[in-house]
Amino acid sequence: MALRNILMEGDETLTKRCRPVTDFNQRLHTLLDDMAETMQSANGVGLAAPQVGVLRRAVVVLETNTPEGEEHVIELVNPQIIETEGEQEGPEGCLSVPGSFGMVKRPARVKVRAQDRNGEFFEVEGVDLTARAFCHECDHLDGHMFTELCDHIMSDEELEAYYGKEDEA
Ligand code: NI
Repeated sequence: MALRNILMEGDETLTKRCRPVTDFNQRLHTLLDDMAETMQSANGVGLAAPQVGVLRRAVVVLETNTPEGEEHVIELVNPQIIETEGEQEGPEGCLSVPGSFGMVKRPARVKVRAQDRNGEFFEVEGVDLTARAFCHECDHLDGHMFTELCDHIMSDEELEAYYGKEDEA
């Protein structure tokens, strides 16, 4: 496994629509392994292939709604959101826009149909942060960034106010 370079907002690659994955080969496995390592080393909860310069429909998401120590990486190849429910609004960020957060509305629960690294179809559900990450990463595959969905990047004061309020609740 190896760390890959994460492209930053402004790079044209991040605005392109990605092509489906058609070859479930070693090259894909290496890409997914590298993406998981790169995401975790950057303390992210999701990463899409175009963020490491590969215009293919593949993402990794860190499932954190688990007992402590049982976080695991979900690999989604050719993902499609097939069901959503409810709504959540909260600060959202991106490894391609480090240190910036904006308020983004997303569904509270999301069901995705995708292929695994061997081409087998499966369905997976996510809630809260995982639902947000599924939507955010799928957007990357169509060349979209969270910055298109929020009206401004939050200031330190706004972030502090948001998280301070949450801590009291
Ligand atoms: Ni992102």
